Amino acid sequence: MSQIQNQSNNSPHILVLGMGGTIAGLASNPDKDPLQYAAGQVEIRSLLDHIEFAIPEGVCLVSKQLANINSCNMTETLLALLGNAVREALENTMVRGVVVTHGTDTIEETGLFLQLICGKFAQNLGKRVVLTGAMLPANAPNADGPANLVDAIQWAASPLDNSPGGVYAVMAGKVCMAMDLAKRHTTALNAPIQNSPASPVRLINPSWLSGVKAAQAIWVEDLPIPDGDTWPWVEILTSHAGARPESIDLLLESKIQGLVLAGTGMGNLHEQWLKPLSNATKQGIAMVRASRSGAGQVLPNIPEWDFEGCFAAGKFSPPKARIALQLALNAKKQAKSAGKSLTWQDFFARIAVLPEIG
Ligand code: SIN
Repeated sequence: MSQIQNQSNNSPHILVLGMGGTIAGLASNPDKDPLQYAAGQVEIRSLLDHIEFAIPEGVCLVSKQLANINSCNMTETLLALLGNAVREALENTMVRGVVVTHGTDTIEETGLFLQLICGKFAQNLGKRVVLTGAMLPANAPNADGPANLVDAIQWAASPLDNSPGGVYAVMAGKVCMAMDLAKRHTTALNAPIQNSPASPVRLINPSWLSGVKAAQAIWVEDLPIPDGDTWPWVEILTSHAGARPESIDLLLESKIQGLVLAGTGMGNLHEQWLKPLSNATKQGIAMVRASRSGAGQVLPNIPEWDFEGCFAAGKFSPPKARIALQLALNAKKQAKSAGKSLTWQDFFARIAVLPEIG
């Protein structure tokens, strides 16, 4: 018999953290127009009550509502809150695994964030952190949230013989490393996972599994979580036809610390940006060159674009490169306070080297 509780429990359990999203959304006229809805309306406790019959035998669940938002409004304070809650849960010997329900709009940013701040910790402890969400609101006739939530709980609770501990995402019957999430479709039910190296969640693919192990072997040390209000200010700028130098000039008058340049193709930047970007370098602004293309890699060492200190984003999309740059800048600051002289590039290089699962 499964048990669901919404407070701490001194027996082994899976902790389910609610962040909101479409999985907790409600449509005003679900039969006629399920895509007209408000995200983040239903409490996590109530979502769990609806799937109680499908929770694996013997699994005890404890739920906690951390937020109930549309993830387009995600904040750095909430990321820090979530990161600390997940780390605390991992430390708790009564927690067997953690499930996080999250909006899909920014789930890829949270996925990379969690990998970077507790991927190694989860792996070492042999526990799984599992992100999930939905593309249809909770009251839509064919809502996908309940099945996703059941699969995520199952994956968080299942023994480690089919895959190690770590930070994963489960949606539409598939599992991937959370850092590989990439929402590249506005409505498809598998949107956040359709372009990610993934395996069917109920029949683990051995080549995906060896890719996970290879990535985990490379990630040797988690990064610190920036305090709520001390996240470095990093913006994303997209290069496009008619790009203007003034957009960068304006930012250079602010207290910005980093820029992610979402270039065209392989991370090419409009020539109109070259002068203001050289000024940005002189001002000590950290820069990462990514691509707006949506897939593929941005290769390093392109002499005309990788001006001093500018780093190629590798496989990371601009939003993921932004999270990586923020954590790298914060790690550099914390290393400096501890008397270690490491650059943000040292930390970013450790992140960018994370492999694409083949
Ligand atoms: C959100 O990201 O909160 C809304 C969209 C979704 O969950 O699919």
